[in-house]
Amino acid sequence: MRLTEAEFRTLGYRAVDMAAKYFVEVPRGPVFQRMHASERQALMNMPMPVAPLSGDEILRLIGEQILPHAMGNGHPRFFGWVNSPPAMLAVITEIVAAAMNPSCAGGDHAAIYLEHCVIRWLMNLVGFPIEGSAGLLVSGGSAASLTALAAARHRALGQLGIDVRKQGVGNHARLRLYASAEVHSCIQKAVELLGLGSDSIRWIEVDEDFRMSLDHLRRAVREDREQGWHPFCVVASAGSVQTGAIDPLDALAGFAAESNLWMHVDGAYGAAAMLDPHSRPLLEGMERADSIALDPHKWLSVPVECGCVLVRDGALLRDTFSLVPAYVRTEPGKGIGNLPWFAEYGMQQTRGFRALKLWVTLANAGTLGLGQQMARQIALARYLAERVDAAPDFELRSKGPLSIVCFRYVPEEIAGNEEAVDALNKKVMEQMQAAGKAFVTSATLAGRFALRACILHYDTTEADIDAMLQAVEDAARRVME
Ligand SMILES: Cc1ncc(COP(=O)(O)O)c(C=O)c1O
Repeated sequence: MRLTEAEFRTLGYRAVDMAAKYFVEVPRGPVFQRMHASERQALMNMPMPVAPLSGDEILRLIGEQILPHAMGNGHPRFFGWVNSPPAMLAVITEIVAAAMNPSCAGGDHAAIYLEHCVIRWLMNLVGFPIEGSAGLLVSGGSAASLTALAAARHRALGQLGIDVRKQGVGNHARLRLYASAEVHSCIQKAVELLGLGSDSIRWIEVDEDFRMSLDHLRRAVREDREQGWHPFCVVASAGSVQTGAIDPLDALAGFAAESNLWMHVDGAYGAAAMLDPHSRPLLEGMERADSIALDPHKWLSVPVECGCVLVRDGALLRDTFSLVPAYVRTEPGKGIGNLPWFAEYGMQQTRGFRALKLWVTLANAGTLGLGQQMARQIALARYLAERVDAAPDFELRSKGPLSIVCFRYVPEEIAGNEEAVDALNKKVMEQMQAAGKAFVTSATLAGRFALRACILHYDTTEADIDAMLQAVEDAARRVME
């Protein structure tokens, strides 16, 4: 476990050299390459060493067997899912976080105050009230929404006279949660984990821009009340995972308030667009939510993992989770006692020093730098949508409003044959992923398969977009041959 200072420096510099070389080489190589079966086996079946391996040996193994097989999201032509490259300065400072190795459960040390600082920054960013609210860094968007919905459930059952922490969910209430079919799957997962069962979700229709229909929501809530359900929560997307659609947040907030519904906003992908002055108006109303899930490890490029949950009623969030065993109980102003422990606001006790990489990333880019980067990426998405729209063999399926574009390749020979178009595009995606020129993933829109490009890389240019479209055509030609 212990290295001498000289060893630490030598090995540390070597690790930095490896990462620096990686950053230089990634854009020059294929976006992604499948590993050979033997390479996978070598990693999975590695025996646990009995005799110690030296630092030299371990770095050599990392360089040979691990570093060459990255996921691909470091490459400027990676357009898959919602995975960004890491902010480079935060990569460097991770060594400091690991060296300090605090548990951010709570206590009186710098990591705690830095977390309070970045939470306040994020609250400011989304216009959330600071007084009385609470926030917590978590592993990602899924954990953020789970935490928020636990608070929503706690409030809803409390209003029905049920102490869910004591009595459990049982058959006490037919709680109903509303979300559009475009909402991320983590919401259903959270509902299931919270013991409500996925039947308690009522799926709300979307309009032609994939935004939740307020009319349908109103109707659904009315019907459910008549049928003995207890509507308790509406989940709105601020940047849905498939298309980046933003639900009508302000109108939903108004409806939620008048209907005693908890409004949770899943802004894991899109809330960060608040940094772009042109996109900010699209997110109006988000600040009225009861809770927001944000994901700095997505568009803000904070190295994975870093999610964040914000809850307007901080005391309620504490009530939902707080359980302070005697061995971690402190009194304000005494010993290590100071602010309430973060561990009281979520399910983790030992918590990593996520705040450092978030703070480094935000401070190093500044709100100005981040806003400009987002504006550039949204402009690239517009460029892609225009190119797709103008090309006879391409069909635009969704074009924003953020940095996601969905489209299909529809050559004249199979136009109108939906099954054939689906099958072709699926094969095109698979070919592209394996070929390594550009990486796209998929979306299912109105029941049909579409290629989906999400632009999150700080180095992506129009030339990369052109290359991606060329890769689609090349793959389609190969498939059709
Ligand atoms: C809109 C949205 N919500 C939630 C999530 C889940 O976030 P995480 O993967 O960080 O748990 C994602 C992930 O892509 C997402 O795009």
